[in-house]
Amino acid sequence: MPTAGKLRLGVNIDHVATVRNARGGAYPCPIRAAEMAQAAGADGITAHLREDRRHITDADIDGLMAALKVPLNFEMAATDEMQAIALRHRPHAVCIVPEKREERTTEGGLDVAQDENRLAHFIAPLREAGCRVSIFIAAEPNQIEAAHRIGAQVIELHTGAYCDFHAEGHFDKRDGELQRLTDMAAFAHDLGLEVHAGHGLSYDTVAPIAALPQVIELNIGHFLIGEAIFRGLGPAIAEMRRLMDDARA
Ligand code: PXP
Repeated sequence: MPTAGKLRLGVNIDHVATVRNARGGAYPCPIRAAEMAQAAGADGITAHLREDRRHITDADIDGLMAALKVPLNFEMAATDEMQAIALRHRPHAVCIVPEKREERTTEGGLDVAQDENRLAHFIAPLREAGCRVSIFIAAEPNQIEAAHRIGAQVIELHTGAYCDFHAEGHFDKRDGELQRLTDMAAFAHDLGLEVHAGHGLSYDTVAPIAALPQVIELNIGHFLIGEAIFRGLGPAIAEMRRLMDDARA
């Protein structure tokens, strides 16, 4: 079992762009939000350039690359267009996610096991360009093994089901999901993968995930941007940071 070091917090600023795009124009600016998140203790910024550009735009990625001191985790679908953009920018990390036009958010993990050959070829140039390649997957052994075989350095475990069961009051199912995440974080770590986690995390759900010693980064977006309406972005992030550090201690 690894000793739990400091847990990194990646703040996803997509939904600042969602609010901006609801009206058109330039306000509120996701790059300003990213700079505030950085100042409030975010260890990295995550942004998902979707195929339909519904929130983050190409210009936002240009701006984030130019402005940020902390690493950018560039979330992308495994398409030629996104690969070309990632190779042009060479962000610190790329996180490969599944993408469906009709979904509101990234609904499940990537089915790496089904698409192993193509994904192995897809991520090779990204690795060669110096990006850390992360794959967003469900906490399932076959997906973790496939991510390892294709040469990903990192997996991000999808915490959405765990969070949904909590919100719906299905605590037995939630605890079952937590056990699966616990086991699969250890399994992935033993294979030599770096383990991240995210999706749907809030103040109510973060502690058990933050306490998993193999997990070294959480990526959190929607809840923090929502909470920023009530307490401001800096304080919302600072409280998340505190809960993560307490859970880790
Ligand atoms: N990690 C990944 C790979 C994601 O796709 C998302 C959502 O864009 C998140 C983390 C953050 O999820 P949430 O916005 O629900 O906190």
